[in-house]
Amino acid sequence: MEREALIYVDRKNTDCWKWDGLDVQFGSGDLLPMWVADMDFLCPAAVRQAISAWAAHGVYGYYKTPDRYFDSFIRWEKEEHGYAVQRDWLRFSPGIVSALHWFVQLVTAPGEAVTVMEPVYYPFMNAVKNNGRTVCSVDLLEDGGLWSIDFDGLEKSLDETGSRLLIFSSPHNPVGRVWTRDELERLCRICARRGVVILSDEIHQDLILGEKSHIPTASLGIGNVVTCCSASKTFNLAGLKNSFLILPDDDLRRRFDEYVNGIDVIDGPSVGYVAATAAFEHGKPWLNALREQLRENYQAACSELMDALPDAVIPPLEGTYLMWIDLRRCLDPQQTKAIVQDACGIAVDFGEWFGGDKWLGCIRLNLATSMDNVMLAVRRLIAALTE
Ligand SMILES: Cc1ncc(COP(=O)(O)O)c(C=O)c1O
Repeated sequence: MEREALIYVDRKNTDCWKWDGLDVQFGSGDLLPMWVADMDFLCPAAVRQAISAWAAHGVYGYYKTPDRYFDSFIRWEKEEHGYAVQRDWLRFSPGIVSALHWFVQLVTAPGEAVTVMEPVYYPFMNAVKNNGRTVCSVDLLEDGGLWSIDFDGLEKSLDETGSRLLIFSSPHNPVGRVWTRDELERLCRICARRGVVILSDEIHQDLILGEKSHIPTASLGIGNVVTCCSASKTFNLAGLKNSFLILPDDDLRRRFDEYVNGIDVIDGPSVGYVAATAAFEHGKPWLNALREQLRENYQAACSELMDALPDAVIPPLEGTYLMWIDLRRCLDPQQTKAIVQDACGIAVDFGEWFGGDKWLGCIRLNLATSMDNVMLAVRRLIAALTE
């Protein structure tokens, strides 16, 4: 398997959120940052070269969206995920979080219920609340670190609330599940029967670390599924604000076009197109190296934590680079911040961010950094919890 060397960089003093935004989020700059989901690695060399060439040209005027950009993505989806995307299904969004907000507005009316499955990436709930809709969570089920969808609960909830939109994370942030074909089929059928639109956020689709393959929800062809994805999470390009929406349904696509014409956000900065194209065309060897590093980081962290803290519950990391650690049997959940942040000096995403106090005592660690940083965080945790 071809690999491009992964290069760790010191990102301090670059105005990045992860290292330079600690004060703003945590009230202290002196923390080891394991929070924001971007990576401390240089993006692929081909992407850096393409951006340098774009910058060197020196004319930053108005540009059209290159055909090559669409072609590179369509090829990537087909080759990596077996999903045959048609060119006219594709639309632009600067970021997935913006798109979540748009679809809440487009598909639902104020006050209506929007369904999510907590614990889940908190901007899902923000998109609902920011638009005056009601969050309705059908919490995932958990058994000893193995997470699954509560299908019976979902059917009941959709029937009771009349919700017309499900925002779904696949692979799932933060519990690292890569959903199986059976799970996805069942989910799609439940939603299709009730006319519920699935907004399938697949931004982590390429970050597959276990045996299971990622299956694009929409590739099953059941019901009305909108896919959100991009090169941004896979190749560390989030700051370039470029993502894809895939809308196979003619009617929803027509309504979406009317909607985006109304807010006039139909394309983005040309550098985003340049970077995404280079990443899809040449980024695979880098991605191979990244996945290997992430697996090693996870395995090392997991084995040391499980040895020292047998009561911690850590799900298998099938996808994403985000490690969910349930420490509820290792500490008083009310003391999580005092121990993890104040005593250990680690900045994490706290469990309650993903859906409230139900997950107080859980944390999410970002593993897309050097093994040294990962192990430093792990050892600080172990020291604090085994004192
Ligand atoms: C599930 C999920 N969706 C969306 C995003 C962010 O997307 P964007 O930066 O394109 O708004 C993230 C970032 O961590 C994420 O985990």
